[in-house]
Amino acid sequence: MQEGGSASGKPRETKVTNPLWLNAEITFRCPLHCVYCYNPVDYARSGPELTTDEWLRVLRQARELGAVQLGISGGEPLMRDDVEVMITEAHRLGYYSNLLTSGVGLTEKRIAAFKEGGLDQIQLSFQDSTRELNDFLSSTRTFELKSKVAKLIKQYEYPMVLNVVLHRLNIDHIQAILDMAEAMGAEHVELANTQYYAWALLNRDQLLPSSEQLRRAEEITNQFRARVGNKMKLYFVVPDYYANRPKACMNGWGSVFLNVAADGLALPCHEARMLPGLTFPNVRDHDVRWIWYESPGFNAYRGDSWMKEPCRSCPEKVKDFGGCRCQAYMLTGDATNTDPVCDLSPNHRLITDVVARAQTAGPQVKVQPIVFRDDKNSRRLSEKKTQPESAPVR
Ligand code: SF4
Ligand code: FES
Repeated sequence: MQEGGSASGKPRETKVTNPLWLNAEITFRCPLHCVYCYNPVDYARSGPELTTDEWLRVLRQARELGAVQLGISGGEPLMRDDVEVMITEAHRLGYYSNLLTSGVGLTEKRIAAFKEGGLDQIQLSFQDSTRELNDFLSSTRTFELKSKVAKLIKQYEYPMVLNVVLHRLNIDHIQAILDMAEAMGAEHVELANTQYYAWALLNRDQLLPSSEQLRRAEEITNQFRARVGNKMKLYFVVPDYYANRPKACMNGWGSVFLNVAADGLALPCHEARMLPGLTFPNVRDHDVRWIWYESPGFNAYRGDSWMKEPCRSCPEKVKDFGGCRCQAYMLTGDATNTDPVCDLSPNHRLITDVVARAQTAGPQVKVQPIVFRDDKNSRRLSEKKTQPESAPVR
């Protein structure tokens, strides 16, 4: 338990509940080079990957704590040859397991082993409905391969879960993307507009769609949804830059989500390692129970005693927790500020200025050279200290 505050500003007790979701980013290695990757920009400098035994220990400890969902992600998780072992153990422990993959490395032999081991779901990502843009955005020739993998997923009787990250360069292909999903027999399609973290933040001016692009894409998605009905579950996630209230990021800091990165760093979200002044524990040094309940990093933004105005006295804080700490830091330089997506934030113009630029630039305008996620860029960028983009209100 820790001290927090209530919607009326009075302190209240915040009960720390168990994590429900363990996301295992088992490697930062990836054959793709996506321009919106959410892996840390300086991933190339991260320490050695956890061993198989270390991962199995994490799975057991998180399950003992109550975690029920397991995401196996990366990088590209299939770069490791021990995914089969992790899946088998996850199944034995009673997790619902989900493999998040680009499809690269998903051979018939491996998918058969995953089925045998008890993997529950495979989420396959596509960059676009066209080979040209798929291959450009990932900087690889993977379109044909992904199409083959989609068939394998069906053949092994997995639900077909497709993920396509939307942005300025592919959002106008929405009809073709939906048609592709239908032709593949997809049961779940997540059309997730890019959120601007890590590599996507570097490429934001290239990736943020205009409001007209977004409006059209939503309209086409709604028409498609009406036609296919229950045959396909479609999720259209709007970029939070176009909202006037922030998302309840991770459903609240240290509330349900536990991320363990390839190098063993335990984090309350994908991005938190870049927040200054916080030390996050490594699963090599601490057990998951201590990390979740006791570590200063996981307790830093629980409750609301850390909040500043306008969040502190705002009735919405019980719903959105003041938005995203990482976005507040990246854009204003202070993680305790209100997420600038909120139109009550004194820094809201940091969002509206970017959105205004997105209305005027052409659909494929090259504002600056696009930055691909690769080791060379990562090493180069990790040498630069990231600065907030403009003078924030602290
Ligand atoms: Fe949420 Fe904005 Fe209220 Fe903060 S000021 S709690 S971000 S609505
Ligand atoms: Fe870190 Fe939102 S991504 S708190």
